[in-house]
Amino acid sequence: VNCLNSVQRTFRRSAGTERGAVQTEGTLGEDSGEKDGPKSFYELMADRQEQAEKSVLISCQSRTSEKKFLNFLSKHGDIKKHFFYESYGVYAVVEFACRDNVVSLLESAAIPSVSHESMVPFKSRLLSLRNHSSGESPSLPCQPQTTVPINELIQRLSREESVDEQISSLTEAYQLREENSRLRFLVCSLLKDIAAAYFPECTIKPFGSSVNGFGKLGCDLDMFLDLDTISGKNLKTPKSGLSLEYQMKRTNSERHVTQSILSVIGECVDHFGPGCVGVQKILNARCPLVRFAHQPSGFQCDLTANNRVAMKSTELLYLYGELDPRVRSLVFTIRCWARTHGITSSIPGAWISNFSLTVMVLFFLQKRSPPIIPTLDCLRDLAEQLLTDFFEFYATFPFSRMSLNIRKGKEQNKPEVAPLHIQNPFETSLNVSKNVNSSQLDRFVALCQESAWLLQQSETRTPTGVGGKHTTKPWGLATLLLPSQVAGVKGRKKRKPHHASERIKSLLESLKSKNDGKKNSDS
Ligand code: CTP
Ligand code: MG
Repeated sequence: VNCLNSVQRTFRRSAGTERGAVQTEGTLGEDSGEKDGPKSFYELMADRQEQAEKSVLISCQSRTSEKKFLNFLSKHGDIKKHFFYESYGVYAVVEFACRDNVVSLLESAAIPSVSHESMVPFKSRLLSLRNHSSGESPSLPCQPQTTVPINELIQRLSREESVDEQISSLTEAYQLREENSRLRFLVCSLLKDIAAAYFPECTIKPFGSSVNGFGKLGCDLDMFLDLDTISGKNLKTPKSGLSLEYQMKRTNSERHVTQSILSVIGECVDHFGPGCVGVQKILNARCPLVRFAHQPSGFQCDLTANNRVAMKSTELLYLYGELDPRVRSLVFTIRCWARTHGITSSIPGAWISNFSLTVMVLFFLQKRSPPIIPTLDCLRDLAEQLLTDFFEFYATFPFSRMSLNIRKGKEQNKPEVAPLHIQNPFETSLNVSKNVNSSQLDRFVALCQESAWLLQQSETRTPTGVGGKHTTKPWGLATLLLPSQVAGVKGRKKRKPHHASERIKSLLESLKSKNDGKKNSDS
C-alpha cells in the first residue's frame, strides 16, 4: 500500500493532474486543500475525523427557518459547514470552527423533561432543536442520502449518448456525496464518545466502502475501534534506574480480548447510545462485530475491533480507485449490474460480496494488455526499484548518440550536435537542453552511476540503526544526499577520464552485465 501510495503521489505530481471530478465528488477528497499537493489516504481520513469532532447532529423541525437556525447556533462560534437531510425527520449536521464552540453549545442545551419515561443520563452531540415560536417557514433544503431507484437510473442512462457517458452518469448517481461522507465520520465520532467511557484514548474509524471510494449511497457503515494508541506504542524501558509500567489484565488470546471489548461496548451502545437500535453482538464470527442501526443517520452499522488488515485493504482499494478514473467507474457499473441481477445482495450469505466483486474487477484490469492497473507485487518492486532504475537508466543512457523525445516516449537519433539533446515537445525542432555543456552532462552521469552503485550496497538499502547519541545513521535516499565521492562534482572544470574511480568502473561493468542479463531473459 505504501508503494501504491508513493506511485500514486509521484504519478499525480508528475502528471500535474487535478483531482478529477469523479474522484473528489465521492468521498474523502473534497475540501482537502490541495495546495500542498495530494494528501495520503490517512491524511484525508484525519481531516475528516477532525471535522467530525467539531460537528454536532441536530434533529430539527422541518418548519424552522434556516436563517434563524444558523443565527441561533452561531452564538456559540463560527459555523464552517452545515447541511440538512431526511431520516425519520429532518436532521442537520453542523460543523463549528473549533471544539470549544461545541462545548459551549452543549452547555447551553437543556435536559428534556419527560413525565412517563425515564432517561439514561448520557449526554452526547446528538441534539434536538425545539422551536417555541409560531410561524411557518419553507421546508429546510435537504440533501439526498439515498441513490436513485433502478428504474429512474435506467431512464437517466437511456438519455445519454454513449456507453462511456452512461458509465459516468451511473458513477455520478451512485457514489457517496461529500455530505454523506461527513455524516459517516460524524457517526463514528459520536460512537467514539460512547466507547471513550471505557477507553478515553480510542478512536473509531470508518473502513470499507464508506471510505474506499467504491461506496454507494446507502451502503453500510463499517467501523473499526482503534486502540492502537494504547496497546500498540510502547515507550522504551530504560536499561537502568527505576521505571513504571501499567498492570493490565491478561487473557490467553487476542481474539478473546477483542470479543470482550466488543461485548462491553456493544452493551454500552445498546443501553446508553441515543439513536442506536437493534444491537446484535456477533462475537463468534471470524471477525467479531457489533451490528446495529443508527436511526438519526439511517446507517446500518458494523463495529469491529482489532481489524487493521481491513483498514489496509480499504486503503489499497482507495488507491487503486485513484490511479485511473476508469477503475471506479467500472467497479460502480459492475456492482450495479451485479446487484440488479441478484448476484450480490445486501443480506450476508453465500453470494459474491461487493468486496469480492471489486477485487475481481481489479484483477481483470491487471490482466489487460497493457495492464490498466499494476499488480501489488509489481508496485512493491517498483517503489523500491524506481529510484535505483532511474539512476541506472541515465548512468547507461547513450547520450552521445540519442535524443530524448517525450512526445513519443522513445529515444531518437540526435538531429544536431549537442552534449544533451531533449526535444521540446511543443516546438519539436528545438533542443530544451541546448545550454548544457559536456562537463555538466558528465557530472550528471557520474552522479547517477554513483547513486545507482550506492543503492545497491546492503548498508545503504536498510536502516542501520542509531549512529551517535541523538543521530541516526543516514541510509537509503539520505545517503544519496551526502557529499559525493564523484570527482569534479563540486568544481566546474572538465573532469579528466582518469579521475573516474575504480568503484565507478566496476559499477559500469556490473551494470553492463546486468543489462545484458536482462536482455537475455527478456528474449
Ligand atoms: N473485508 C476483507 N475481507 C473480506 C471481507 C471484507 O478484508 N472477506 C474488508 C474489506 O476491506 C471490505 C471491508 O472489510 O472493504 C468491509 O466489508 P464489506 O462491508 O463486506 O464490504 P464493502 O467493501 O464495505 O462493500 P459494501 O458496500 O457491500 O458494504
Ligand atoms: Mg461495507
